[in-house]
Amino acid sequence: MSNRRSESRPDAKSAGPQRGHTEDEALTETMEKMKLSNEKKKQAAARKKDPKRAISYAAERVIGSGSFGVVYQATVLGSGETVAIKKVLQDRRFKNRELKILGKLKHPCVVALKHCFYTKGEKTDDVYLNLVMEYIPETIHRTLRNHTKAKKLVSIMYTKLYIYQVARALAYIHSQGVGHRDIKPQNLLLDPKTHVTKVCDFGSAKVLVQGQPNVAYICSRYYRAPELVFEATEYTTRIDVWSMGCVFAELLLGNPLFPGDSGIDQLIEIIKILGTPGPEEIYAMNPNNTAFNFPQIGPHSWEKVFRNKAPPDAIDLISRLLRYDPQARLSAFETLAHPFFDDLRQPNVKLPNGKKMPEIFNWTKEEVEQMERMSLTSKLVPVHMREEFNFKWLTPK
Ligand SMILES: Nc1ncnc2c1ncn2[C@@H]1O[C@H](COP(=O)(O)OP(=O)(O)OP(=O)(O)O)[C@@H](O)[C@H]1O
Ligand SMILES: [Mg+2]
Repeated sequence: MSNRRSESRPDAKSAGPQRGHTEDEALTETMEKMKLSNEKKKQAAARKKDPKRAISYAAERVIGSGSFGVVYQATVLGSGETVAIKKVLQDRRFKNRELKILGKLKHPCVVALKHCFYTKGEKTDDVYLNLVMEYIPETIHRTLRNHTKAKKLVSIMYTKLYIYQVARALAYIHSQGVGHRDIKPQNLLLDPKTHVTKVCDFGSAKVLVQGQPNVAYICSRYYRAPELVFEATEYTTRIDVWSMGCVFAELLLGNPLFPGDSGIDQLIEIIKILGTPGPEEIYAMNPNNTAFNFPQIGPHSWEKVFRNKAPPDAIDLISRLLRYDPQARLSAFETLAHPFFDDLRQPNVKLPNGKKMPEIFNWTKEEVEQMERMSLTSKLVPVHMREEFNFKWLTPK
């Protein structure tokens, strides 16, 4: 098992089939033991006596597996709460970057880390890190797949809601200086009842510091920003904005926008739609890699790409996210203010199934500071939310 902290993610990570995983016998054994109901009772009673006692979990099933670890759905013994546990091999030489980053993030649209613990592996020297997170049953990937199977498209209202929440998560993550570097439908969790969307999988995330190089070989192929294909090492958090634009387009189209089947083919797929990048755009992507020789192809119009599948405001937003020049892309925070999301800011807005909308105005301190700095408060806080907002954020405490 390789460690992702080496900064290399194999190309196999790309949108193709999921890699297999090795069955974790040690944990299965523990699971079996823990499933005994009298054990559960004993644990609950012991914790009542001593609340500081270690929490125990019963792993129920594997919900995800990659070359970096296995994710289990598990139950907290005693409380019965469902959690997700991501178990990864810990390289003793390094601090786990996912733990370090996720442990600092707290936002309604970022999966919450509840706890972590270490377990031993089969080999005496192996140590596994177990990240205990809140459990969210679905992903945008699975929802997309179910819609495709049923020959349906995700409705525009849900698309708005999902992308709005992803943009919120990214705006927050980026405000902390962190690039997620692997935004794709599989890493966007979705609660099918409430439609709350949360970003997960911080295994590739990194604090991106201007002037410090980062590996270009990051992010899954269909969602890789063109500067990564150009092997830039001084890229910014705008790589995540590109990936979000690709997920947005996929929700509108029902299939990936740029389904490249190799690194270079990825660029060809992008060129087929955006046209060949001009010299300034190539320089903006990677000033060290300007020797680029591709036939001159003009851009395809976004209207033709989406035909009747996207309204004009969606097309306008896509065209502002998917740009070659990273700085010409909207920032995640600016994305929130785009008119495409105005429907979410209407009073009495409901989900297409008639149910209540999830909470999307539960601003964090960082978001409030950022909207004030960018003079976006009047746009992002609709009139019907103003009183509540003023009371929470502007009333002297
Ligand atoms: N908190 C969670 N709740 C529910 N499911 C989750 C949770 N976290 C992860 N998953 C599921 O497990 C899958 C793998 O998790 P994650 O992406 O964190 O691991 P990974 O090893 O990086 O996987 P990959 O290499 O495929 O990206 C996710 O795509 C999702 O389906
Ligand atoms: Mg993942």
